[in-house]
Amino acid sequence: MLKRPKIAIIGGGNVGASCALWAASKELGDIVVVDIPQSEGMVKGKMLDLAQCGPVERFDANITGTADYADIAGSDVVVITAGLPRKPGMSRDDLIKTNVEIVKNVSENVKQHAPDAIVIVISNPLDAMVYTAWKVTGFPTSRVLGQAGCLDVARFKTFIAMETGFSVEDINALLLGGHGDTMVPLPRYTNISGIPVTKFISEDRLNEIVDRAKIGGGEIVKLMGTSAYYAPASGAIDMVEAIVKDKKRILPCASYCNGEFGINGLFVGVPTLLGASGVEKVIEIDLDETETKLMNDSANHVRDLVNTVTQLYPDLA
Ligand code: NAI
Ligand code: 2OP
Repeated sequence: MLKRPKIAIIGGGNVGASCALWAASKELGDIVVVDIPQSEGMVKGKMLDLAQCGPVERFDANITGTADYADIAGSDVVVITAGLPRKPGMSRDDLIKTNVEIVKNVSENVKQHAPDAIVIVISNPLDAMVYTAWKVTGFPTSRVLGQAGCLDVARFKTFIAMETGFSVEDINALLLGGHGDTMVPLPRYTNISGIPVTKFISEDRLNEIVDRAKIGGGEIVKLMGTSAYYAPASGAIDMVEAIVKDKKRILPCASYCNGEFGINGLFVGVPTLLGASGVEKVIEIDLDETETKLMNDSANHVRDLVNTVTQLYPDLA
């Protein structure tokens, strides 16, 4: 019998609830959102509220909140959003000690209750949390990846649209590296309906836009006192959609590099072919000398974060 895809979201806070909202509105499948026992009422209430949008928004889906991990059994995709967000003045890296413990606990539960799922991590610091989820679940690298690039590139595209006045739909861009201030936007691979972006924006102005995209998360934290959630969730659900519909999209995801871009044994933002099997291929592109240096610096930063994880938990080495 055919069945709807099942999407589990761990953490029903700002990002998790927004993921549920985007997934429901796109009618991607049944949705279960898990939170801690102290937040059981909150997550059950939010998901009941969301389910009641169905008749208006016209989606059919079973949508539930729970504090019982047994409810994620049979999930095709698990999105991990559990963890603290940053506050003004904090970097993503400041969250590592608290969030590695949370992501470790969540991943143990995912391994036990949804052993066949594809896992998309959102919790920060992203690249180190994807590594943690991979080590703890023991899932193949094709079934563990992270969301950061879809958000970062969406920010870059939004700023280009604001600058030029052209539709966001016509802006194509690419971005590599870790999810942090060392991320690597690639103006050379950016175009508007196939026309190089440099036809419309001067090099100096483009550099300013690149810099704004790099610190785009911090800009929002400063404004509202906590981190962004609509766009991060939208990026993650774009990835979920590519998987549950086997779309074969090429999206910038934190995927395992096994020699690609000269990087070994780390999850770093790279162009990724996404389909029903999860990560179906990491797509390598040519980088010039400057881009290669930026990519190496970014990978080195991710390696430092992973070293912090393995110092805290040597069994994750
Ligand atoms: P939030 O505080 O609104 O929600 C986090 C939720 O996780 C809370 O409801 C909490 O009770 C829950 N939680 C904690 N431990 C849990 C456990 N063991 N099992 C299940 N649930 C658990 O935070 P928000 O804004 O939703 O952010 C979540 C994470 O996503 C943060 O680490 C944040 O830094 C990260 N983030 C990552 C982005 C990315 O692009 N990768 C973008 C935005 C946020
Ligand atoms: C963001 O980039 C904090 O990672 C989060 O908005």
